[in-house]
Amino acid sequence: MESAKTPAQVYEEVFVPAIFMPCTRQLLDVARPRPGERVLDLACGTGVVARMVAPLVGSEGRVAGLDLRPGMLAVASSLPAPEGAPVEWVEGDALALPFEDGTFDLVLCQQGIQFFPDQTKAMSEMCRVLAPGGRAGLAVWRGFDRNEFFGAMTEVEMRHLADLGMTYEDLAQPFLFGDPEWLHGLLAGAGFGAVDVEPRSLEARFPADGFVENAEFAYSAVVPEFVDDPGAFAAFVDVVDQEMAELVARHRDGDEIAFPLHLNVAAATA
Ligand SMILES: C[S@@+](CC[C@H](N)C(=O)[O-])C[C@H]1O[C@@H](n2cnc3c(N)ncnc32)[C@H](O)[C@@H]1O
Repeated sequence: MESAKTPAQVYEEVFVPAIFMPCTRQLLDVARPRPGERVLDLACGTGVVARMVAPLVGSEGRVAGLDLRPGMLAVASSLPAPEGAPVEWVEGDALALPFEDGTFDLVLCQQGIQFFPDQTKAMSEMCRVLAPGGRAGLAVWRGFDRNEFFGAMTEVEMRHLADLGMTYEDLAQPFLFGDPEWLHGLLAGAGFGAVDVEPRSLEARFPADGFVENAEFAYSAVVPEFVDDPGAFAAFVDVVDQEMAELVARHRDGDEIAFPLHLNVAAATA
């Protein structure tokens, strides 16, 4: 058990290189940040998007990373500052952004909107803090029909989830908003124009050693209730680990587990 580390530290060490860094490459390829722009990384987690966009907007630009969870921001602010724009870490809620109207030229949100309790409100906040003509870029995983590895893992987890007092929605949240029409409608409904939603893919590569334990623990950085009962959580990890053995073996590539992941990347103009 990675108990000496916080969930956000394991998220940064394991999940960020495995899936979120490749995801950011896809997002930035669509959003195309420009030198001098003021960028908000909304629901920044440990800050991978903020760190990767800072060199692209350069020292004339500015970057803010905002997240609800202090544990995520503690990791974000502990990492070395990137080249380029200065990065400010802000604790706050996507539903009530602590910024003046028109503060940013580009708002990026990577795998965050799935967790917002009111996505319509978050989109209108995103629109409000953008300067006229500013741009939004969102990355959202597609559903389990396209993301079979995590779909199969969720089926295993579901068999034991009741022991943690959690529901399917708690666990499957990242993959429940994969419909491109829904994403398009969410942005258009908030007043964004020139909305475009593009399917993209990447290859996930996790260290095979400790995969299940790390994955479950890191998820509690986003859904902390997952580890409310440490005994039940440890038992859950053990049984999921056993039942995942065959799936993990099938995707094993040397020291790693490799599988494809599919996402939608949306771009829109305020
Ligand atoms: C899957 S993580 C993605 C983090 C980061 N964007 C990345 O790519 O690694 C989802 C993030 O959304 C944040 N979050 C959830 N609800 C939020 C809200 N209402 N306002 C701001 N952040 C929120 C969580 O704390 C978490 O850091």
